[in-house]
Amino acid sequence: MTPTTSERQLKYQTGFGNEFATEAVAGALPIGRNSPQKAPLGLYAEQFSGTAFTAPRSFNKRTWTYRIRPSVTHQPFARIDNGRLVSKFDELETTPNQLRWNPLTMPQIETDFVDGLTTFAGNGDSFSQHGIAIHIFACNKNMTDRFFYNADGEMLVVAERNRVRFLTELGIIEIGSGETAVLPRGLKFRVELPDGEARGYICENYGVQFRLPDLGPIGANGLANPRDFETPVAWFEDKDGEFELTAKFGGNLWSCAIDHSPLDVVAWHGNYAPYKYDLRRFNTIGSISFDHPDPSIFTVLTSPSPEHGTANCDFVIFPDRWLVAENTFRPPWFHRNIMSEFMGLCFGQYDAKEAGFVPGGASLHNQMSAHGPDLEAFEKASNAELKPIKLAGTMAFMFESRYIIRPTKYAMETSELQHEYFEVWQKLKKNFKA
Ligand SMILES: [Fe+2]
Repeated sequence: MTPTTSERQLKYQTGFGNEFATEAVAGALPIGRNSPQKAPLGLYAEQFSGTAFTAPRSFNKRTWTYRIRPSVTHQPFARIDNGRLVSKFDELETTPNQLRWNPLTMPQIETDFVDGLTTFAGNGDSFSQHGIAIHIFACNKNMTDRFFYNADGEMLVVAERNRVRFLTELGIIEIGSGETAVLPRGLKFRVELPDGEARGYICENYGVQFRLPDLGPIGANGLANPRDFETPVAWFEDKDGEFELTAKFGGNLWSCAIDHSPLDVVAWHGNYAPYKYDLRRFNTIGSISFDHPDPSIFTVLTSPSPEHGTANCDFVIFPDRWLVAENTFRPPWFHRNIMSEFMGLCFGQYDAKEAGFVPGGASLHNQMSAHGPDLEAFEKASNAELKPIKLAGTMAFMFESRYIIRPTKYAMETSELQHEYFEVWQKLKKNFKA
Protein backbone atom coordinates (compact mmCIF):
# COMPACT_ATOMS: atom_id res chain seq x y z
CA MET A 1 0.00 0.00 0.00
CA THR A 2 1.35 3.41 -0.91
CA PRO A 3 2.02 5.54 2.18
CA THR A 4 0.24 8.87 2.36
CA THR A 5 2.19 12.10 2.11
CA SER A 6 1.99 12.67 5.86
CA GLU A 7 3.19 9.11 6.58
CA ARG A 8 6.16 9.73 4.29
CA GLN A 9 6.97 12.98 6.06
CA LEU A 10 7.40 11.04 9.29
CA LYS A 11 10.16 8.99 7.66
CA TYR A 12 11.67 11.14 4.96
CA GLN A 13 12.58 14.72 4.12
CA THR A 14 12.35 15.61 0.44
CA GLY A 15 14.72 17.40 -1.91
CA PHE A 16 18.12 16.74 -3.46
CA GLY A 17 21.15 17.84 -1.43
CA ASN A 18 19.09 20.12 0.78
CA GLU A 19 20.27 21.52 4.10
CA PHE A 20 18.18 19.23 6.30
CA ALA A 21 17.65 19.51 10.05
CA THR A 22 16.11 16.69 12.05
CA GLU A 23 15.96 15.43 15.62
CA ALA A 24 14.67 12.12 16.99
CA VAL A 25 14.34 13.58 20.50
CA ALA A 26 12.97 17.06 21.07
CA GLY A 27 15.68 19.54 21.98
CA ALA A 28 18.60 17.43 20.73
CA LEU A 29 19.47 19.82 17.91
CA PRO A 30 21.32 22.96 19.01
CA ILE A 31 20.02 26.22 17.62
CA GLY A 32 22.41 28.90 16.39
CA ARG A 33 25.60 26.93 17.19
CA ASN A 34 27.10 23.85 15.51
CA SER A 35 29.26 22.97 18.50
CA PRO A 36 28.03 24.68 21.65
CA GLN A 37 30.21 24.37 24.73
CA LYS A 38 27.88 21.63 25.89
CA ALA A 39 25.73 19.98 23.25
CA PRO A 40 22.10 19.38 24.31
CA LEU A 41 21.09 16.27 26.28
CA GLY A 42 24.71 15.27 26.97
CA LEU A 43 25.34 14.47 23.30
CA TYR A 44 28.65 14.84 21.47
CA ALA A 45 28.86 17.14 18.46
CA GLU A 46 30.74 15.65 15.48
CA GLN A 47 31.14 16.89 11.93
CA PHE A 48 30.93 14.43 9.03
CA SER A 49 32.28 16.02 5.86
CA GLY A 50 32.03 14.67 2.34
CA THR A 51 33.93 17.32 0.40
CA ALA A 52 37.09 19.31 1.05
CA PHE A 53 36.32 22.12 3.49
CA THR A 54 37.08 24.61 0.74
CA ALA A 55 34.94 23.04 -2.01
CA PRO A 56 32.72 25.64 -3.71
CA ARG A 57 29.57 26.30 -1.72
CA SER A 58 27.28 24.73 -4.34
CA PHE A 59 29.12 21.40 -4.02
CA ASN A 60 30.17 21.60 -0.38
CA LYS A 61 28.82 18.70 1.67
CA ARG A 62 28.94 18.26 5.43
CA THR A 63 26.64 17.25 8.23
CA TRP A 64 26.78 17.98 11.95
CA THR A 65 25.78 15.00 14.06
CA TYR A 66 24.76 15.00 17.73
CA ARG A 67 25.50 11.52 18.99
CA ILE A 68 25.62 9.47 22.14
CA ARG A 69 29.33 8.68 21.70
CA PRO A 70 31.86 10.16 19.29
CA SER A 71 32.77 7.89 16.36
CA VAL A 72 36.36 7.50 17.55
CA THR A 73 35.36 5.19 20.43
CA HIS A 74 36.22 1.82 18.89
CA GLN A 75 39.07 -0.71 19.14
CA PRO A 76 41.88 -0.79 16.51
CA PHE A 77 41.07 -2.17 13.08
CA ALA A 78 42.66 -5.35 11.70
CA ARG A 79 42.44 -6.79 8.20
CA ILE A 80 39.80 -9.37 7.39
CA ASP A 81 39.23 -11.41 4.25
CA ASN A 82 37.90 -9.41 1.30
CA GLY A 83 35.65 -12.25 0.17
CA ARG A 84 34.59 -11.55 -3.42
CA LEU A 85 35.28 -7.82 -3.16
CA VAL A 86 37.88 -6.61 -5.65
CA SER A 87 39.43 -3.15 -5.85
CA LYS A 88 42.28 -3.72 -8.28
CA PHE A 89 41.09 -4.21 -11.80
CA ASP A 90 44.30 -5.50 -13.39
CA GLU A 91 43.75 -9.15 -12.44
CA LEU A 92 43.22 -10.03 -16.11
CA GLU A 93 43.81 -8.52 -19.52
CA THR A 94 40.54 -6.78 -20.37
CA THR A 95 38.72 -8.29 -23.31
CA PRO A 96 37.00 -6.14 -25.94
CA ASN A 97 34.33 -8.85 -26.29
CA GLN A 98 30.72 -8.11 -25.48
CA LEU A 99 29.89 -9.78 -22.18
CA ARG A 100 26.66 -10.87 -20.56
CA TRP A 101 25.87 -12.68 -17.36
CA ASN A 102 22.99 -14.68 -15.93
CA PRO A 103 21.75 -13.55 -12.50
CA LEU A 104 24.08 -14.15 -9.58
CA THR A 105 22.98 -17.29 -7.72
CA MET A 106 21.44 -16.60 -4.32
CA PRO A 107 23.69 -17.74 -1.43
CA GLN A 108 23.17 -21.23 -0.05
CA ILE A 109 24.69 -20.40 3.35
CA GLU A 110 23.91 -17.53 5.72
CA THR A 111 25.33 -14.40 4.09
CA ASP A 112 24.90 -10.81 5.15
CA PHE A 113 25.04 -7.73 2.89
CA VAL A 114 28.80 -7.20 3.27
CA ASP A 115 29.73 -10.85 2.76
CA GLY A 116 27.27 -11.00 -0.13
CA LEU A 117 29.10 -8.42 -2.24
CA THR A 118 30.63 -9.74 -5.46
CA THR A 119 32.67 -7.37 -7.60
CA PHE A 120 31.95 -7.84 -11.30
CA ALA A 121 33.92 -4.99 -12.80
CA GLY A 122 35.52 -1.64 -12.19
CA ASN A 123 38.00 1.03 -13.20
CA GLY A 124 40.12 3.69 -11.58
CA ASP A 125 40.84 3.29 -7.88
CA SER A 126 39.92 4.71 -4.54
CA PHE A 127 43.40 6.08 -3.89
CA SER A 128 43.21 8.51 -6.80
CA GLN A 129 39.46 9.06 -6.30
CA HIS A 130 38.36 8.33 -9.82
CA GLY A 131 36.47 5.46 -11.42
CA ILE A 132 33.88 3.05 -10.13
CA ALA A 133 33.52 -0.51 -8.90
CA ILE A 134 30.43 -2.48 -9.87
CA HIS A 135 29.22 -5.08 -7.40
CA ILE A 136 26.23 -7.37 -7.34
CA PHE A 137 24.97 -8.23 -3.87
CA ALA A 138 23.01 -11.31 -2.92
CA CYS A 139 22.30 -11.88 0.76
CA ASN A 140 19.94 -13.67 3.12
CA LYS A 141 20.98 -12.64 6.64
CA ASN A 142 20.26 -9.49 8.62
CA MET A 143 23.20 -7.54 10.00
CA THR A 144 22.38 -7.35 13.70
CA ASP A 145 25.71 -7.08 15.53
CA ARG A 146 27.72 -5.85 12.58
CA PHE A 147 28.04 -2.37 11.10
CA PHE A 148 29.74 -1.23 7.92
CA TYR A 149 31.12 1.88 6.31
CA ASN A 150 32.86 2.44 2.99
CA ALA A 151 35.65 5.02 3.04
CA ASP A 152 36.50 4.33 -0.61
CA GLY A 153 33.38 5.56 -2.32
CA GLU A 154 29.73 6.40 -2.12
CA MET A 155 27.47 3.46 -2.87
CA LEU A 156 24.59 3.78 -5.30
CA VAL A 157 22.41 0.73 -4.67
CA VAL A 158 19.80 -0.49 -7.15
CA ALA A 159 17.41 -3.04 -5.65
CA GLU A 160 16.41 -5.85 -7.97
CA ARG A 161 15.01 -8.71 -5.91
CA ASN A 162 13.05 -7.83 -2.77
CA ARG A 163 13.43 -5.02 -0.29
CA VAL A 164 16.62 -3.82 1.38
CA ARG A 165 16.55 -1.71 4.55
CA PHE A 166 19.55 0.43 5.42
CA LEU A 167 19.66 1.44 9.08
CA THR A 168 22.16 4.28 8.96
CA GLU A 169 23.66 6.84 11.29
CA LEU A 170 21.36 9.44 9.76
CA GLY A 171 18.14 7.44 9.59
CA ILE A 172 16.45 4.49 7.93
CA ILE A 173 16.06 4.04 4.19
CA GLU A 174 14.17 1.15 2.64
CA ILE A 175 14.16 0.40 -1.08
CA GLY A 176 12.46 -2.24 -3.22
CA SER A 177 12.89 -3.35 -6.80
CA GLY A 178 13.10 -0.34 -9.09
CA GLU A 179 14.28 2.00 -6.36
CA THR A 180 17.76 3.30 -5.70
CA ALA A 181 19.55 4.47 -2.56
CA VAL A 182 22.78 6.43 -2.34
CA LEU A 183 24.89 5.92 0.78
CA PRO A 184 27.57 8.58 1.13
CA ARG A 185 31.22 7.69 1.57
CA GLY A 186 31.91 6.97 5.24
CA LEU A 187 28.30 6.60 6.40
CA LYS A 188 27.88 3.80 8.93
CA PHE A 189 24.98 1.41 8.50
CA ARG A 190 23.69 -2.08 8.88
CA VAL A 191 21.34 -3.90 6.53
CA GLU A 192 18.12 -5.76 7.19
CA LEU A 193 16.22 -7.87 4.68
CA PRO A 194 12.45 -7.58 5.28
CA ASP A 195 11.77 -10.34 2.74
CA GLY A 196 14.43 -12.72 4.06
CA GLU A 197 16.75 -12.36 1.07
CA ALA A 198 17.62 -9.70 -1.47
CA ARG A 199 19.71 -9.06 -4.54
CA GLY A 200 20.72 -5.96 -6.46
CA TYR A 201 23.46 -3.91 -8.02
CA ILE A 202 25.90 -1.38 -6.58
CA CYS A 203 27.94 1.33 -8.22
CA GLU A 204 30.72 2.20 -5.81
CA ASN A 205 31.73 5.64 -6.96
CA TYR A 206 35.34 6.59 -6.20
CA GLY A 207 34.95 9.90 -8.01
CA VAL A 208 33.00 13.10 -7.55
CA GLN A 209 29.68 12.52 -5.77
CA PHE A 210 26.61 11.84 -7.85
CA ARG A 211 24.59 14.95 -8.61
CA LEU A 212 21.62 15.81 -10.75
CA PRO A 213 22.52 16.54 -14.37
CA ASP A 214 22.03 20.02 -15.77
CA LEU A 215 18.86 20.25 -17.86
CA GLY A 216 19.93 22.71 -20.56
CA PRO A 217 17.11 23.41 -23.04
CA ILE A 218 14.81 20.96 -21.20
CA GLY A 219 14.24 23.78 -18.71
CA ALA A 220 13.52 23.88 -15.01
CA ASN A 221 11.65 20.57 -14.74
CA GLY A 222 12.14 17.07 -16.02
CA LEU A 223 14.15 13.87 -15.74
CA ALA A 224 14.64 13.22 -12.00
CA ASN A 225 12.93 16.06 -10.14
CA PRO A 226 14.65 17.14 -6.88
CA ARG A 227 11.50 16.85 -4.75
CA ASP A 228 11.31 13.11 -5.42
CA PHE A 229 14.56 12.38 -3.59
CA GLU A 230 13.99 11.30 0.00
CA THR A 231 16.42 11.59 2.90
CA PRO A 232 15.58 9.91 6.21
CA VAL A 233 14.71 11.74 9.39
CA ALA A 234 16.92 11.25 12.45
CA TRP A 235 16.71 7.83 14.09
CA PHE A 236 19.05 6.16 16.55
CA GLU A 237 19.61 3.08 18.66
CA ASP A 238 21.10 3.27 22.17
CA LYS A 239 22.60 -0.21 22.46
CA ASP A 240 25.60 -1.45 24.44
CA GLY A 241 27.15 -4.86 23.75
CA GLU A 242 29.77 -6.66 21.67
CA PHE A 243 29.58 -5.50 18.09
CA GLU A 244 31.76 -5.48 14.97
CA LEU A 245 32.47 -2.48 12.79
CA THR A 246 33.70 -3.37 9.31
CA ALA A 247 35.28 -0.75 7.08
CA LYS A 248 36.21 -0.78 3.43
CA PHE A 249 39.34 1.33 3.25
CA GLY A 250 42.02 1.45 0.57
CA GLY A 251 40.40 -1.42 -1.32
CA ASN A 252 40.43 -3.82 1.63
CA LEU A 253 38.09 -4.86 4.40
CA TRP A 254 39.07 -4.02 7.97
CA SER A 255 37.25 -4.89 11.15
CA CYS A 256 37.25 -3.77 14.78
CA ALA A 257 35.35 -4.41 17.97
CA ILE A 258 32.99 -1.74 19.24
CA ASP A 259 31.05 -1.83 22.50
CA HIS A 260 27.98 0.04 21.31
CA SER A 261 25.90 0.62 18.23
CA PRO A 262 27.48 3.44 16.20
CA LEU A 263 24.01 4.25 14.89
CA ASP A 264 23.59 6.62 17.80
CA VAL A 265 22.97 9.98 16.14
CA VAL A 266 20.02 11.56 17.95
CA ALA A 267 19.89 14.71 15.82
CA TRP A 268 21.67 16.08 12.77
CA HIS A 269 21.68 18.93 10.33
CA GLY A 270 23.48 19.33 7.03
CA ASN A 271 23.51 18.25 3.41
CA TYR A 272 25.77 15.18 3.47
CA ALA A 273 23.22 12.43 3.91
CA PRO A 274 21.84 9.29 2.32
CA TYR A 275 18.89 9.48 -0.02
CA LYS A 276 16.54 7.24 -1.98
CA TYR A 277 14.72 7.68 -5.25
CA ASP A 278 11.96 5.66 -6.88
CA LEU A 279 13.06 5.29 -10.50
CA ARG A 280 9.40 5.12 -11.56
CA ARG A 281 9.09 8.82 -10.72
CA PHE A 282 11.53 9.73 -13.49
CA ASN A 283 10.02 12.19 -15.99
CA THR A 284 11.08 10.41 -19.15
CA ILE A 285 11.68 12.62 -22.15
CA GLY A 286 12.12 11.34 -25.71
CA SER A 287 11.44 11.95 -29.36
CA ILE A 288 7.97 13.04 -30.43
CA SER A 289 9.01 13.37 -34.07
CA PHE A 290 11.62 10.93 -35.34
CA ASP A 291 14.91 9.22 -34.44
CA HIS A 292 16.17 7.85 -31.19
CA PRO A 293 17.76 10.29 -28.74
CA ASP A 294 21.04 9.31 -27.11
CA PRO A 295 20.52 7.61 -23.73
CA SER A 296 21.95 10.65 -21.96
CA ILE A 297 18.34 11.88 -22.04
CA PHE A 298 17.66 9.18 -19.42
CA THR A 299 20.37 10.28 -16.94
CA VAL A 300 19.18 10.16 -13.34
CA LEU A 301 22.47 11.12 -11.66
CA THR A 302 25.92 11.94 -12.91
CA SER A 303 29.40 11.83 -11.39
CA PRO A 304 31.42 14.26 -13.50
CA SER A 305 35.06 13.82 -14.39
CA PRO A 306 37.45 16.77 -14.74
CA GLU A 307 36.59 16.93 -18.47
CA HIS A 308 33.38 18.87 -18.97
CA GLY A 309 30.44 16.77 -20.20
CA THR A 310 32.38 13.51 -19.82
CA ALA A 311 31.23 11.45 -16.88
CA ASN A 312 33.23 9.42 -14.44
CA CYS A 313 29.87 7.65 -14.24
CA ASP A 314 26.38 8.37 -15.45
CA PHE A 315 23.49 6.46 -13.89
CA VAL A 316 21.00 6.05 -16.71
CA ILE A 317 17.66 4.24 -16.69
CA PHE A 318 15.29 2.78 -19.28
CA PRO A 319 11.87 3.04 -17.62
CA ASP A 320 8.30 2.73 -18.91
CA ARG A 321 7.74 5.10 -21.82
CA TRP A 322 5.74 5.71 -24.94
CA LEU A 323 7.39 5.14 -28.31
CA VAL A 324 5.82 7.36 -30.95
CA ALA A 325 8.65 8.30 -33.36
CA GLU A 326 7.68 8.18 -37.04
CA ASN A 327 9.69 6.34 -39.70
CA THR A 328 12.17 5.36 -37.03
CA PHE A 329 13.85 2.20 -35.85
CA ARG A 330 12.71 2.57 -32.28
CA PRO A 331 14.99 0.36 -30.14
CA PRO A 332 18.60 1.48 -29.54
CA TRP A 333 20.44 1.25 -32.88
CA PHE A 334 23.76 -0.46 -33.51
CA HIS A 335 26.52 1.59 -31.99
CA ARG A 336 30.13 1.84 -30.85
CA ASN A 337 30.83 4.38 -28.14
CA ILE A 338 33.81 5.83 -26.38
CA MET A 339 31.84 5.55 -23.13
CA SER A 340 31.71 2.05 -21.62
CA GLU A 341 28.36 0.61 -20.62
CA PHE A 342 27.49 -1.81 -17.82
CA MET A 343 23.80 -2.68 -17.77
CA GLY A 344 21.46 -4.36 -15.32
CA LEU A 345 17.74 -5.07 -15.17
CA CYS A 346 15.40 -4.68 -12.18
CA PHE A 347 12.29 -6.10 -13.85
CA GLY A 348 10.59 -6.56 -17.19
CA GLN A 349 12.22 -6.80 -20.60
CA TYR A 350 14.72 -4.47 -22.24
CA ASP A 351 13.67 -3.50 -25.78
CA ALA A 352 16.96 -4.20 -27.58
CA LYS A 353 17.10 -7.83 -26.51
CA GLU A 354 14.40 -10.46 -26.83
CA ALA A 355 15.99 -12.99 -24.46
CA GLY A 356 19.09 -13.67 -22.36
CA PHE A 357 19.16 -10.35 -20.48
CA VAL A 358 17.03 -11.03 -17.43
CA PRO A 359 16.43 -9.39 -14.04
CA GLY A 360 19.52 -9.81 -11.87
CA GLY A 361 21.69 -10.40 -14.94
CA ALA A 362 24.12 -7.92 -16.46
CA SER A 363 25.91 -6.97 -19.64
CA LEU A 364 29.08 -5.07 -20.43
CA HIS A 365 29.84 -3.31 -23.71
CA ASN A 366 33.17 -1.58 -23.43
CA GLN A 367 34.80 1.35 -25.16
CA MET A 368 34.36 1.01 -28.95
CA SER A 369 33.00 -2.55 -28.68
CA ALA A 370 30.17 -2.91 -31.21
CA HIS A 371 26.72 -3.89 -30.00
CA GLY A 372 23.04 -3.37 -30.66
CA PRO A 373 19.80 -5.24 -31.15
CA ASP A 374 19.81 -8.97 -31.72
CA LEU A 375 18.27 -10.49 -34.86
CA GLU A 376 14.83 -10.96 -33.35
CA ALA A 377 14.69 -7.41 -31.99
CA PHE A 378 16.02 -6.05 -35.31
CA GLU A 379 13.47 -7.91 -37.43
CA LYS A 380 10.60 -7.04 -35.13
CA ALA A 381 11.44 -3.33 -34.94
CA SER A 382 12.19 -3.05 -38.69
CA ASN A 383 8.77 -4.40 -39.61
CA ALA A 384 6.60 -3.14 -36.77
CA GLU A 385 3.61 -0.96 -37.48
CA LEU A 386 4.69 2.42 -36.09
CA LYS A 387 1.68 3.22 -33.98
CA PRO A 388 2.19 4.63 -30.49
CA ILE A 389 3.38 1.82 -28.24
CA LYS A 390 3.87 1.84 -24.50
CA LEU A 391 6.87 -0.01 -23.14
CA ALA A 392 5.49 -0.98 -19.76
CA GLY A 393 6.62 -2.89 -16.69
CA THR A 394 10.33 -2.54 -17.36
CA MET A 395 13.29 -0.97 -15.56
CA ALA A 396 16.74 -1.45 -17.04
CA PHE A 397 19.66 0.75 -16.09
CA MET A 398 23.20 1.52 -17.11
CA PHE A 399 26.37 2.59 -15.33
CA GLU A 400 28.20 4.42 -18.09
CA SER A 401 31.82 5.47 -17.61
CA ARG A 402 34.46 7.31 -19.60
CA TYR A 403 37.01 4.75 -18.38
CA ILE A 404 37.16 1.19 -19.72
CA ILE A 405 35.17 -1.04 -17.34
CA ARG A 406 37.38 -4.01 -16.48
CA PRO A 407 35.64 -7.27 -15.53
CA THR A 408 37.10 -9.11 -12.55
CA LYS A 409 38.55 -12.61 -12.58
CA TYR A 410 35.37 -13.79 -10.87
CA ALA A 411 33.20 -12.25 -13.58
CA MET A 412 35.22 -13.89 -16.36
CA GLU A 413 35.39 -17.31 -14.74
CA THR A 414 31.94 -17.67 -13.23
CA SER A 415 29.49 -20.10 -14.77
CA GLU A 416 27.05 -17.18 -14.94
CA LEU A 417 29.01 -15.74 -17.88
CA GLN A 418 27.18 -16.39 -21.18
CA HIS A 419 29.98 -17.61 -23.43
CA GLU A 420 27.59 -17.83 -26.39
CA TYR A 421 26.48 -14.17 -26.12
CA PHE A 422 28.23 -13.14 -29.38
CA GLU A 423 25.95 -15.51 -31.29
CA VAL A 424 22.91 -13.24 -30.89
CA TRP A 425 24.31 -11.02 -33.65
CA GLN A 426 25.71 -13.66 -36.00
CA LYS A 427 22.42 -14.32 -37.74
CA LEU A 428 22.07 -10.69 -38.85
CA LYS A 429 22.19 -11.20 -42.60
CA LYS A 430 23.14 -9.10 -45.59
CA ASN A 431 20.07 -7.27 -46.87
CA PHE A 432 21.90 -4.96 -49.29
CA LYS A 433 20.69 -4.87 -52.90
CA ALA A 434 22.48 -2.55 -55.34
FE1 LIG B 1 24.99 0.63 -25.78
